[in-house]
Amino acid sequence: MVVFSWTRSLRTGHRNRTGADFLDSSLVGKRINMERSFRLLLLLLIGTLVITHIVQAQSQQGFISLDCGLPANELSPYNEPETGLQFSSDATFIQTGKTGKTQATLERRLLKPYATLRYFPDGIRNCYNLKTEKGRSHLIRAWFVYGNYDGIDNSPKFDLYLGPNPWTTVDLHGQENGTRKEIFHIPISNSLQICLVKTGMTTPIISALEIRPMGNDSYITQSGSLKLFFRIYLTESKFYLRYSDDVYDRQWIAYFKKDWTHVNTTSDVGNINNYDPPKDALATAAIPTNASEPLTIEWTNSDNPSDQYYVYRHFAEIQELRTNETREFNMVWNGEVMSTEPVIPKKLEILTMYSQSPRICDEGKCKFQLIRTDRSTLPPLLNALEVYTVIQFPQSETDINDVVAIKNIEATYGLTRINWQGDPCVPQQFRWDALNCSNMDTSTPPRITSLNLSSSGLTGNIASAIQNLTQLVRLDLSNNNLTGEVPEFLGNIKSLLFINLSGNDLNGSIPQSLLQRQGLQLFRQGNPRLLPSESPTKPPGKSFPVVIVASVGSAAILIIVVVVLVLFLRKKKPTDEVIHPPPPSNVTYSYLPEPSIEMKKRRFPYSEVMKMTNNFERVVGEGGFGVVCHGTVNGSEQVAVKLLSQSSTQGYKEFKAEVDLLLRVHHTNLVSLVGYCDEGDHLALIYEYVPNGDLRQHLSGKGGKSIVNWGTRLRIAAEAALGLEYLHIGCTPPMVHRDVKTTNILLDEHYKAKLADFGLSRSFPVGGDSHVSTVIAGTPGYLDPEYYHTSRLGEKSDVYSFGIVLLEMISNQPVIDRNRAKSHITQWVGSQLNGGDIAKIMDPKLNGDYDSRSAWRALELAMSCADPTSAKRPTMSHVVIELKECLVTENSRRNMSRGMDSLSSPEVSMIFDSEMTPRAR
Ligand SMILES: *[C@@H]1O[C@H](CO)[C@@H](O)[C@H](O)[C@H]1NC(C)=O
Ligand SMILES: *[C@@H]1O[C@H](CO)[C@@H](O)[C@H](O)[C@H]1NC(C)=O
Ligand SMILES: *[C@@H]1O[C@H](CO)[C@@H](O)[C@H](O)[C@H]1NC(C)=O
Ligand SMILES: *[C@@H]1O[C@H](CO)[C@@H](O)[C@H](O)[C@H]1NC(C)=O
Ligand SMILES: *[C@@H]1O[C@H](CO)[C@@H](O)[C@H](O)[C@H]1NC(C)=O
Ligand SMILES: *[C@@H]1O[C@H](CO)[C@@H](O)[C@H](O)[C@H]1NC(C)=O
Repeated sequence: MVVFSWTRSLRTGHRNRTGADFLDSSLVGKRINMERSFRLLLLLLIGTLVITHIVQAQSQQGFISLDCGLPANELSPYNEPETGLQFSSDATFIQTGKTGKTQATLERRLLKPYATLRYFPDGIRNCYNLKTEKGRSHLIRAWFVYGNYDGIDNSPKFDLYLGPNPWTTVDLHGQENGTRKEIFHIPISNSLQICLVKTGMTTPIISALEIRPMGNDSYITQSGSLKLFFRIYLTESKFYLRYSDDVYDRQWIAYFKKDWTHVNTTSDVGNINNYDPPKDALATAAIPTNASEPLTIEWTNSDNPSDQYYVYRHFAEIQELRTNETREFNMVWNGEVMSTEPVIPKKLEILTMYSQSPRICDEGKCKFQLIRTDRSTLPPLLNALEVYTVIQFPQSETDINDVVAIKNIEATYGLTRINWQGDPCVPQQFRWDALNCSNMDTSTPPRITSLNLSSSGLTGNIASAIQNLTQLVRLDLSNNNLTGEVPEFLGNIKSLLFINLSGNDLNGSIPQSLLQRQGLQLFRQGNPRLLPSESPTKPPGKSFPVVIVASVGSAAILIIVVVVLVLFLRKKKPTDEVIHPPPPSNVTYSYLPEPSIEMKKRRFPYSEVMKMTNNFERVVGEGGFGVVCHGTVNGSEQVAVKLLSQSSTQGYKEFKAEVDLLLRVHHTNLVSLVGYCDEGDHLALIYEYVPNGDLRQHLSGKGGKSIVNWGTRLRIAAEAALGLEYLHIGCTPPMVHRDVKTTNILLDEHYKAKLADFGLSRSFPVGGDSHVSTVIAGTPGYLDPEYYHTSRLGEKSDVYSFGIVLLEMISNQPVIDRNRAKSHITQWVGSQLNGGDIAKIMDPKLNGDYDSRSAWRALELAMSCADPTSAKRPTMSHVVIELKECLVTENSRRNMSRGMDSLSSPEVSMIFDSEMTPRAR
């Protein structure tokens, strides 16, 4: 809708063109000169006449041009004669849907690719799988022409998704000539899925799909992708341009207003920069007829008044200037000058202007103007203009290895499930049947945690691709016709807690690797050829065997006896050590055993851990030590249960000692340990649940997380500093965190900061590398440089890491960026400081909304914390005082500026509109 609706509100005043005219011309043909239009007329009249068109030998490298619904056995690929584009059938890019044809009257008016279509009567979500180049901006354009293909005259309405994210709604009501949707998007992997999602009674359709890789470094945004709002070239001609005039096949619509004068040139105009607009779009331009008037283009976007805009302006001087003539003008956005330097178009050479950050309009009313400067003798001139709005695609796709593995499993068993299309895990309402996934937040790729192919008619062996589902917790393959042996690799999936292989025809014996896995529940009855397993050898002292529900048979009875016996013995163990729910902390004990009281009353039996997590149902994350599950204790208190694998600990004793210590640490800015479990090989830590993600997510704005403002950042920093100060001086013995970083600062529902992951560093190597023995390698970039000489981490090492955190909060720069000349954040800030302009250092997402005194002070503090020499760094107590004072300054500014915010904004946007002109190639 938006793509064309602009024309309605755009004040054209010129022959009152409607959007439909544009669309129609765009569907019927591309730019047509006089002879061509005559030829087209013939084509329209005769309908079937084929006109050979000599296609320029331009490359269409990387282009994907799909004529949807063209049967694969018809001539495919073919050259579309008007555009010279090579279209092919979509049959190999989608497995579902049926093919249809628009009604003959419309079909004759349409270019061939838009006359056939694919429709999707089955399934809710149907997806195309396309290959793209990751990291490169791509034009993605989809065409939809209903054309009453089904004879029931009911225009479809449905949603379009890009991978797991909603892109737009397609509503063909009143669009007898069809519609198209277009974005610029940078895929993060080499594949792209475009999905049509049924939302009502009507059947989704698609006519054509066009993907074009764009030039290097073009159409870059601060965040999000670009949705086409309009793309025009200023000409009195009526025709629009696309391939091969435009090497990237963008479509440029002719636009003109009555108070303008048309100028054009027959000379060649240089069009090469990162954007390469068509030469023909640059060879024509508009100037205001009254030279003292501005050139104005305005529109109203009442549907989405808060949209953010990126505006690309293409200029080329195409008039012959006399020596006493100059053309120079300012670009003005809603009354504000956009760049510090006025524009002087280059003679017969392209000049493209754009802003690095998006712009907004008041109440959706936008006004773009060119106003000549006082010294200019000529009116302003504009050749072409592109306007896009920002569209966010926050949901991460499922982990790529999981996707490859599940597709492999699908292929191995020849599964054909209509809803196994698109992303396996997200969005949740379209999650593939038979799967369950962890999705903690939108910015983390979901993982497959459960696969249930029970009663799915599976034959053959247990698919080896299952081993690549490395976060799998539950696997149900029961009631199939699986044969062969139970594979060894199942024992290697560390996260597995439940396997049901019942009701198959497996043979051989259960591998040792499975039998030795503690806590794994394995069900195997109803496999007559499967040998009974021996009870695994029990490591003395600290484990209990796998629960095996064996096949019926004498050996099974024996095993059941063993199991019952073990359970019985376990029951008999005195349970007075385990008190649950934990009593209030003022309860006193008459005896003082080893370990401490605190420790005992917070100890949970493994069965309790399973219960609180509902059998580890909801995996909310994965750390270096193992998975983290969500749980509930006492019916309401939410907890995060970190399951530790014994192999990740340095030693059991240290683990106990540290847990003991941590249970005694209580501070509002520290994530507190609620309890723990150590039963046999089961180690788990139960923490309070902090619901709002980590600071890193909020800074990046990923996953729909809000960008926290400067005042809130200062408060969060002060709170994190308080937590750290408590570890350093408030608890006995003092503790060093050793891994302070933005991902370890969690935020609760009120955005209160809580430091996580402290104190375990002696028994657990930080960073998840279990081969590091006693050395603690903090996270690269945050690690105290003195550590490299001394191999010791003290309080001042935390101060260093905290300094890096502060720098991130101030600048939102990556801590280490190898593509940056100054790769470490301290070097980068140092180099920017030489310029003395704090605006260059501050996070652009703050939009200049901060008190520069508090910003300077925080920056100086951060740099002193990050001093390479530990002796020169302040203490955390000093840091806390400084941050609190920054916060006071910032808060008083906020209170003052309320009510005069309209005054402060022009100044701010002047600073941040760093206009860029791309270098000519
Ligand atoms: C569709 O195109 C035809 C032919 O150009 C035009 O007459 C008609 O108005 C268009 N319909 C709409 C709804 O725009
Ligand atoms: C041109 O514009 C100026 C400034 O708006 C105005 O004063 C002048 O009358 C206009 N000239 C004509 C010929 O309309
Ligand atoms: C520029 O010079 C031409 C003659 O060379 C003269 O006709 C014209 O008025 C001058 N224009 C300006 C703006 O001075
Ligand atoms: C798997 O699905 C079947 C029904 O399709 C259900 O009976 C069974 O309980 C499921 N298994 C698990 C482990 O949830
Ligand atoms: C598992 O993944 C690895 C790498 O991702 C791949 O090389 C291997 O072939 C996969 N194994 C199976 C059985 O799919
Ligand atoms: C395992 O699968 C069998 C066959 O579907 C079923 O009868 C049994 O209840 C399942 N066991 C569990 C614990 O889900």
